[in-house]
Amino acid sequence: MTSLCRALQSALALLLVATPASAFTLNPADHQPASSPRSRTRLDTDWRFHRFPSNPDNIAYDLRPDHANLTTPPQILKPWILPSANAFIADPSNHHTPPPSSSSSPPPLPTYASPSFNDTLWDPVTLPHDWAIAGPFYVGDGVPVGGGMGRLPSQGVGWYRRTVSIPSPKSPSAAVARSRYFLEFDGAMAYAVVWVDGTLVGGWPYGYNSFRVDVTAQVRAAVLRGKGEGRGEVVVAVRVDNPVQSSRWYPGGGLYRDVWLVTAGEVAVGQWGTVVTTREGGVARVETDVHEVEAGTGAVGRKVAEFEGRSVALGKGERKTVNGSVEIKNPRLWGPWPSQTPNLYVAVSRVYVDGKVVDEYSTEFGIRSLVFDSDRGLFVNGERVRIQGVNQHHDLGALGAAFNYRAAERQLQLLRELGCNAIRMSHNPPALSSSRSPTAWASSSSTRSSTPGSARRTPTTSTSSSPDWSEPDLRAFIRRDRNHPPSSPGASATRSASSTPTPRARSSPAACAPSPSPRTPDPPVTASMNYAKPTMPFPAEFDLARASATRPPTPTSPASRPRPLPAFHTAFPHKMIFSSETAAALSSRGTYLFPLTNETARPVSDTLPSGGGDPTLAYVSAYELYTAPFGSSADKVFASQDAAAPYVAGEFVWSGWDYLGEPTPYYSARSSYFGIVDLAGFKKDRAYLYQARWREDDARFAMVHVLPHWSWGAAREGEVTPVHAFASADEAELWVNGASQGRLRKEEGGVTSYRFRWDEVVYRPGEIRVVAYKGGKEWASETVKTAGAAAGLRLTADRETFKGDGRDLSFVTVEVVDGDGNVVPTAGNAVAFELEGPGQIAATDNGDPTDMTSFVSKERKVFNGLGLVIVRGNSGAKGKLKLKATGAGLKAAQITLRVQ
Ligand SMILES: *[C@@H]1O[C@H](CO)[C@@H](O)[C@H](O)[C@H]1NC(C)=O
Ligand SMILES: *[C@@H]1O[C@H](CO)[C@@H](O)[C@H](O)[C@H]1NC(C)=O
Ligand SMILES: *[C@@H]1O[C@H](CO)[C@@H](O)[C@H](O)[C@H]1NC(C)=O
Ligand SMILES: *[C@@H]1O[C@H](CO)[C@@H](O)[C@H](O)[C@H]1NC(C)=O
Repeated sequence: MTSLCRALQSALALLLVATPASAFTLNPADHQPASSPRSRTRLDTDWRFHRFPSNPDNIAYDLRPDHANLTTPPQILKPWILPSANAFIADPSNHHTPPPSSSSSPPPLPTYASPSFNDTLWDPVTLPHDWAIAGPFYVGDGVPVGGGMGRLPSQGVGWYRRTVSIPSPKSPSAAVARSRYFLEFDGAMAYAVVWVDGTLVGGWPYGYNSFRVDVTAQVRAAVLRGKGEGRGEVVVAVRVDNPVQSSRWYPGGGLYRDVWLVTAGEVAVGQWGTVVTTREGGVARVETDVHEVEAGTGAVGRKVAEFEGRSVALGKGERKTVNGSVEIKNPRLWGPWPSQTPNLYVAVSRVYVDGKVVDEYSTEFGIRSLVFDSDRGLFVNGERVRIQGVNQHHDLGALGAAFNYRAAERQLQLLRELGCNAIRMSHNPPALSSSRSPTAWASSSSTRSSTPGSARRTPTTSTSSSPDWSEPDLRAFIRRDRNHPPSSPGASATRSASSTPTPRARSSPAACAPSPSPRTPDPPVTASMNYAKPTMPFPAEFDLARASATRPPTPTSPASRPRPLPAFHTAFPHKMIFSSETAAALSSRGTYLFPLTNETARPVSDTLPSGGGDPTLAYVSAYELYTAPFGSSADKVFASQDAAAPYVAGEFVWSGWDYLGEPTPYYSARSSYFGIVDLAGFKKDRAYLYQARWREDDARFAMVHVLPHWSWGAAREGEVTPVHAFASADEAELWVNGASQGRLRKEEGGVTSYRFRWDEVVYRPGEIRVVAYKGGKEWASETVKTAGAAAGLRLTADRETFKGDGRDLSFVTVEVVDGDGNVVPTAGNAVAFELEGPGQIAATDNGDPTDMTSFVSKERKVFNGLGLVIVRGNSGAKGKLKLKATGAGLKAAQITLRVQ
């Protein structure tokens, strides 16, 4: 530990601990002193759950259009939920008061919230839990949940119940009387309402925000009932409600992130109550504002002996902000991979009453300077960093919305292999950042943060909650993540908001301020503007200009126009510009359709005639030249970015991974075609197109990737079968069965600026080989052979040893191979999986957006040769797991995994 404390002008102690070079090893829990009453207990086990496809108890947060024909209108809980927002509403005169208990309230206790309800027959579940992911999929038209939302049963009402034991303090009654208790929900989808021992304690409509409810009164009462032994039990009941058509993509359903019991002192730091800012270029000074020091019973903060400073007097229920600053000499800077290191610090705020520590709160932060240069792009600690980013949805493929650290880490690791250095979590506050994203530079984003569930596809299903929740949703989202050095909160703009600044857009930058001090440009506030023009007033409201890729198609120029970067640069000469949603290219991994377009980008839709898509099979060709009608190919985006260099700071590609829902262009499918990586985590050819650009000069990643596969049947012999290569090189030569097809050079401004293409090649079985050259020297090579008939299976685990903690995962790839061990790239064999030992098959997948086999099925067809099995070790398990794969006519495969 480096000694870093200097003057501190408040009743707070600041402990700053420099971390080792890695951002992952820091564990704030290590710094908790025994004297602090603050504790955080994860409540992931022992829940009982039941889903009701339709409203079982005639309760609703608010009246909705789908209630229109009910004979008995539902009981509305909104007045009792609104006060949960108060901590996130700046103006006290706008705070909500619950209805007086004497009137019609509190509302009748729903059966399932009653502590005495017998839930024995409900399903036992472990959190995080997504009730919809197991399916079954809704197939076809006229179903309750269509392709847009992933065809999974996310709609309905879910009830969760569990008994929570109160940890037993040493001197029970006194300690309990001096402690305060909260239930923290990292995310509950959606319209969560929480009862404890039959009392409605609050809730939060928007399913992606984290929130907490105060359960101090219920816990104290329970401990009193526990006859002074300091032990008590409370029954927690949570109701979540997903209206039909509540989302534009797959929302998941239920308690899909962690739930915590938090114990804090009677005087305590508020929820996400610290803000650390660095000044003077971010390298010399740290200031800590502690918001909302809350008092329960008129306690008074006293002067702390060690530190020169003020004491803070707090009345009952009062909140105050105190601040302090220290100077850190020679700080280790947080900086993006690969040239810099993401060093983190932790600030420990201690609250003292009568000289005793009554609360201690750790805040991780990094010290870095960010310069948003309108002419030269983004500078981090003085180094220009091109944003090589992707957009990521919240789901984890076959695991659904249920957050899993390892699954999220795997997504980021695969993206980093390509050279990706930035993530835009679209379009909601992620689970990710609270788990410390290993990616260098992340940008959070919320689409219309006020809209519960997520953005609405059908305006008629909107609720009236938006005006009530726009401010608290935005403040809560920002406060949770504002100290994360890579975070930049953003608001996404709706179509209508792009043309006129709504009051909400105007208030967004203000709500992003570390209240109550005036807004500083760190972090900057941005909005993604998919239909904005530089002449509109809306873009002027924000610190950074974000030109989105998407714009409406026109009949004459569907996908080939450059983005309006120069126009934005001219209109906002003092704002840094970057592209927040680029490309929207489409492909199905390993599927190639003929004939191939001779253009650099070609739109595909379910109605447009185009060689790029097969509406019957619902696949899009993976030559990686096909796009949504509103989008553009990777090649085309690279050209527009390069034309705007050096002032454009970079791009966020739509999208990094495929995700559930939004299966443009084929709504008969269940997951997207946009990903650089497919839903199962297999790289599409496009991944190598990005790697070739994002790791262009990195000799350790010298590469060439050739497509398509070369295992066409007799029917293609003699047919034109174009061969393309993606390489971080400037020249490449192709040989087909030993005959050179010519050595090509990348040419600026043509169809071969970012790829090599031999479009006249005629297919004959055998092999194709590409050798790439850089500066005239051989740089990389790749050979693709014609595979024989499918003969066997092969299993490969990403990690053969993993933790038996009930959460950690091993991702096992299954390949169908020929007699020589070559993957058969057209194989679609059905494979059955069996696991022996202390674990489970959590899910299977293959990356095929049209596959309606349940994700929990232990039998699945491979898609173009590949399949995936996700294995989870049981909690507390140790030992060997044997995974076996069998398929008709194929040699079986087996792999041994170890959990420890
Ligand atoms: C209510 O009933 C009307 C008339 O039958 C119908 O048109 C409408 O779709 C119904 N609304 C809902 C939400 O079911
Ligand atoms: C709860 O229900 C189960 C299943 O019906 C029953 O076996 C059990 O006795 C019930 N418990 C109580 C306390 O009534
Ligand atoms: C810290 O608090 C003092 C007293 O309220 C105030 O005068 C000062 O401006 C604050 N400093 C910062 C950086 O907010
Ligand atoms: C593509 O092919 C069409 C039709 O054969 C032709 O008119 C067009 O000029 C070609 N475009 C390019 C870029 O070669």
